[in-house]
Amino acid sequence: MRPVPEQSDIAASYRDHAAMMADSPCFAEWAARTAEDPEVLAVLATLPTEKQQANLVFAAARWHGVPAPGPYAGLRAALLGPDQQAILDTVRTRRTQTNEVGRLTALTPALATLGEGPFALVELGTSAGLCLHPDGFDYDWGVGTLTGSGGPVLDCSTRGALPVPDVHPRIAARIGVDQHPLDVRSEEDMDWLLTLVWPEQEGRRARLRAAVEVARRSPAQLLGGDLFDRLEDALALAESSGAVPVVQHSAVIAYLEEPDRARFHERMSSLVAAGRCHWISLEGQTVLPRLTATGPAPSSPHPFCLAVDGQAVAWAHGHGRTLSWFG
Ligand SMILES: C[S@@+](CC[C@H](N)C(=O)[O-])C[C@H]1O[C@@H](n2cnc3c(N)ncnc32)[C@H](O)[C@@H]1O
Repeated sequence: MRPVPEQSDIAASYRDHAAMMADSPCFAEWAARTAEDPEVLAVLATLPTEKQQANLVFAAARWHGVPAPGPYAGLRAALLGPDQQAILDTVRTRRTQTNEVGRLTALTPALATLGEGPFALVELGTSAGLCLHPDGFDYDWGVGTLTGSGGPVLDCSTRGALPVPDVHPRIAARIGVDQHPLDVRSEEDMDWLLTLVWPEQEGRRARLRAAVEVARRSPAQLLGGDLFDRLEDALALAESSGAVPVVQHSAVIAYLEEPDRARFHERMSSLVAAGRCHWISLEGQTVLPRLTATGPAPSSPHPFCLAVDGQAVAWAHGHGRTLSWFG
C-alpha cells in the first residue's frame, strides 16, 4: 500500500522525529518504522494535524500499556487493535507539556544576579510550576556548588565566569500562568507528566518525581489562561506580596506566533522600564532574536539564550545540562 498525500506528510514528520529522538533508541525506532507503515499512518491521518506528533502519540500508547523500551510491534498492535480508540482519545484530550527542572541550573544564577530576595516569582507557561522552586534544589555547577536546600541535586557543566550564588534565593510568592496548568497534587496529572519523559531517560524521570515532591511541599498559585491575558493578574498578586516581582519563562515563547513574540518582547521591556518587575528569559536562540543579539556570537552546543532584564548573560543547553556564562 502506498501512502496517500496526507500520510506522506505524516511520514516525513516521523522521519524527522526519528533523527530528533536519537536520545531514545526506542522512540527513534518507533518513529522510523511508523514512517514506513502505511496502515499505522492511515490511523494517524484520522487525527487533527496538531495531534499527529510522534511525542504525543507515543506517550498516549505508553499511557495505555504499550511497553517502552519495547519493540515497534507493541506500538503497531496497539494502534491497529482493540486499544486504538482509547489511545486516539488520549491523544485528542491530552497534550505534550513537559516541565524540566534542569533549567533551574540556568534560572537560579540568573535570579541571584538580582540579589537574595525576597522575590515574588511569576512564571509564564509554568506547566506544573516546578521551576518556581529554585530554593528547593541543591546545585553542582562544576565550578561551584550551592547546598543546604534538603532537595535533590541538579548538575550542570559550566564555562565562563559563572557567578555562583552563595545562598538560595528567598521566595515569598510563587505564581504560575499556563493555558493548561497541571496540578502537582493530582496523581493523574503527574503520571502523565512522567509518561512524557522518553523511555530510556530514567535519570530525568527520577528527577521529575523528586521535583514533584519538592513542589508539593509549597504548591504554587496557578492561574489558567493565556500569558498575555493573565500577566497583569499575576503581577498584581506578586506586588501584593510586598516582595520584588520577577517574571520568568523558559521554553514557552516558541509557542507564540512571530508577531506575538515581538509583542511579548515589547510588553516585558516596558514593564521592566517602568520598574514593575525584573525579567528572566530562557528561550531558544531564534525565539526572541533581539535578546539573543545582545550577547556575543551564539554557540551552537547551547541552543538557549538566558537573559536578565533584556540583556543576554549566558547560552544554555535546552534542559540545563550545560551553561556558558558571559554576562
Ligand atoms: C515546553 S512547556 C515548558 C514548561 C516550563 N516553563 C519548563 O521550562 O519546564 C511550555 C508550557 O507553556 C504553556 N503555554 C504555551 N503557550 C502559552 C500561552 N500562550 N499562554 C500560557 N501558557 C502557554 C504550555 O501549556 C506548556 O505548559
